Amino acid sequence: MSGSRILSLGHYQPSRVVTNDEIAQLVETNDEWIRDRVGIVSRRIAGDETVADMAAAAADKALANSGLTAADIDLVVVATCTSVDRSPNVACRVAAKLGIAAPAAFDVNTACSGFAYALGTVDHAIRAGAARNAIVIGAEKLSEFTDWTDRSTCIIFADGAGAAVVTAAAEDEAPGIGPVVWGSVPERGDAVRIEGWRPYVAQEGQTVFRWATTALAPLALQACERAGVDPSELAAFVPHQANTRIIDGIAKRLNIPQAIIAKDIVESGNTSAASIPLALSKLVERREVPSGAPVLLFGFGGGLTYAGQVIRCP
Ligand code: UT7
Repeated sequence: MSGSRILSLGHYQPSRVVTNDEIAQLVETNDEWIRDRVGIVSRRIAGDETVADMAAAAADKALANSGLTAADIDLVVVATCTSVDRSPNVACRVAAKLGIAAPAAFDVNTACSGFAYALGTVDHAIRAGAARNAIVIGAEKLSEFTDWTDRSTCIIFADGAGAAVVTAAAEDEAPGIGPVVWGSVPERGDAVRIEGWRPYVAQEGQTVFRWATTALAPLALQACERAGVDPSELAAFVPHQANTRIIDGIAKRLNIPQAIIAKDIVESGNTSAASIPLALSKLVERREVPSGAPVLLFGFGGGLTYAGQVIRCP
């Protein structure tokens, strides 16, 4: 197989909008601090929806936008670190909800870099001939793993899902998903964690901040190089939505003034593995990026893990 490409996107967010002022009623913080230090104005918090419900809703929209049907899908991969159930995995639940009969179905857990890891894995499966049409999803319900008395985390995390339908590229077509650059820093694994039987997200914010703003730009540039795309050609940069200061710091080092820089965090918070497909799906829905234009995705977070690739906009 010559490669794969993203055919369509879709996303789902819970209807409940939670403002910074509401969070300030729970912990000692304020709207100004959260806007200045993180960039979030509001976030969406789920009600009864499970991770699988949100994943399926996003996947359903992506499938409707693709021109394919459930019968065409032979692989479902869900990136998540907030599934409460150990088994069945979220991918199987999504397949059942969407009536996808017999797909290969598995979850990927690399926290906030999960979508780029899952997209890389799906691309490899299609290149190897192990799948032809796949749905890859990032979905998180972080509100269930948030200590709402901890101001260092409860101001940040949120819920949502984004999905992409990925298909085999034609033999004479350039690949629409570039080689993934991925890796991890296991010795700093504790810097972001959800541990134990009654787990809450915990993180050493400054450690992650410093790592993200110093180590990641060269890796993102590697993803461009491996795709044969000069950074000056990028139409958009869609990084994990962790903090607008991190996003600006990486973008500055990439030197891409022409590119749209996704900042969905402002109205969606940090949705971990969901943040990249959510932001990308919204950019495409608003027609802000032309079809076929190169877009750099780059995820990073718990593990510490990172992954990114250049894709062609559907
Ligand atoms: O997505 C997973 C990967 N995670 C990340 O990428 C997170 C990366 N880290 C960050 O985004 C930032 O480190 C945070 C947003 C988590 C924190 O921002 P910061 O600028 O590093 O703040 P800080 O922890 O250094 O705290 C600065 C001050 C402290 O007060 P003092 O000691 O200077 O008086 C904190 O106690 O801000 C205080 N503070 C707060 N004040 C109001 C900490 N949290 C809050 C808060 N509201 N929520």
